[in-house]
Amino acid sequence: MSTRAGTWRPLSLVFLLGMGMAAGDVGCPSGCSCGYLEVNCTGRQLQEFPAAIPLDTRQLILAANNVSYLPAVELSFLADLVYLDCQKNLLGDGLDFTFVGVVKLVYLDLSFNNLTQVTFSTFSQLLSLVVLKISDNPNLVVIEKDAFANNTWLRHLDVSRTGLTFLDASTVQDLPYLRLLGLSDNLWHCNCSFLDFITWMTESSVHFPDADNITCHTPEALRALRMPAAEVQLHASCQTRLHKRDYIFLCFVGFCIFFAGTVVAWLAGICAVIYQIHSSKEEEEEEEDAVT
Ligand SMILES: *[C@@H]1O[C@H](CO)[C@@H](O)[C@H](O)[C@H]1NC(C)=O
Ligand SMILES: *[C@@H]1O[C@H](CO)[C@@H](O)[C@H](O)[C@H]1NC(C)=O
Ligand SMILES: *[C@@H]1O[C@H](CO)[C@@H](O)[C@H](O)[C@H]1NC(C)=O
Ligand SMILES: *[C@@H]1O[C@H](CO)[C@@H](O)[C@H](O)[C@H]1NC(C)=O
Ligand SMILES: *[C@@H]1O[C@H](CO)[C@@H](O)[C@H](O)[C@H]1NC(C)=O
Ligand SMILES: *[C@@H]1O[C@H](CO)[C@@H](O)[C@H](O)[C@H]1NC(C)=O
Repeated sequence: MSTRAGTWRPLSLVFLLGMGMAAGDVGCPSGCSCGYLEVNCTGRQLQEFPAAIPLDTRQLILAANNVSYLPAVELSFLADLVYLDCQKNLLGDGLDFTFVGVVKLVYLDLSFNNLTQVTFSTFSQLLSLVVLKISDNPNLVVIEKDAFANNTWLRHLDVSRTGLTFLDASTVQDLPYLRLLGLSDNLWHCNCSFLDFITWMTESSVHFPDADNITCHTPEALRALRMPAAEVQLHASCQTRLHKRDYIFLCFVGFCIFFAGTVVAWLAGICAVIYQIHSSKEEEEEEEDAVT
């Protein structure tokens, strides 16, 4: 009897595994609803990334839960994932290298979370990303210059209502397909470093939704000023600073010219002296020849 049970168990395991593979999934995570290649776990009070998600899932919705951590390894099992919606969770920092295994991701929503910073390592593996929503993260204060350097297909980027005060123009200006950039309701710090960004905004064909709410917060003089208006003011005040630098540059160039002139005059003098000595010697020699 024991031998019969022993042979039955592995056989049933093989059978179950075969069934699972044939069906293309191993069921639906408890509490979630599943459709074709789609898992929807919206508003289930999940504390953690759900286990047992079918491996062929293309669309995963975890919106409105209390998930505070995305495990990179378990995510990487979902190699075909193209759509991931994690809005309204408690995701904090520590997202770097989270998405290494889901390289086909096209749509990623991390809005209404608790992100604190975005570095090159956060999204650099997502070479197909088209939509990225990281708005409504009140503690998001830093987006590194090269944060989206690898996301060349990015078309829609939203950083509205975050803790950002500054964004370098190079963060977004080299994204060839960018069409929509959400920037509203941030406390932008409009100093001279920000002028490049504002200038890019006024010259680019990107759409900035809710433009009335894209305003300077500091300095005091520019508070609540909308971006195009801020550009004119900032241009004027930052230009004078450029003048000071220009003066220094001009002085430097002037000194160089003066110095070069002096050297040339000095060399010319030496040449003249040498020539004179030489020619007077020749004259002397000629005179000597004439005497003999
Ligand atoms: C996911 O489920 C929620 C509620 O359970 C529903 O409102 C929402 O439309 C669903 N999303 C999709 C894409 O099916
Ligand atoms: C989830 O978070 C919300 C607000 O952050 C809280 O009110 C709720 O009690 C949490 N639910 C669970 C199950 O922890
Ligand atoms: C959000 O992140 C900050 C800084 O990491 C932390 O102090 C705070 O407790 C977090 N808030 C929530 C709701 O997790
Ligand atoms: C960034 O993109 C380059 C070229 O597409 C690729 O070689 C590199 O591995 C990517 N970086 C990361 C961290 O994936
Ligand atoms: C402008 O502000 C940003 C962020 O507050 C800061 O990093 C930068 O150094 C400032 N630039 C100047 C010229 O003050
Ligand atoms: C723009 O800002 C005002 C004032 O802060 C706010 O009342 C309004 O809801 C904002 N508009 C949008 C579309 O967020």
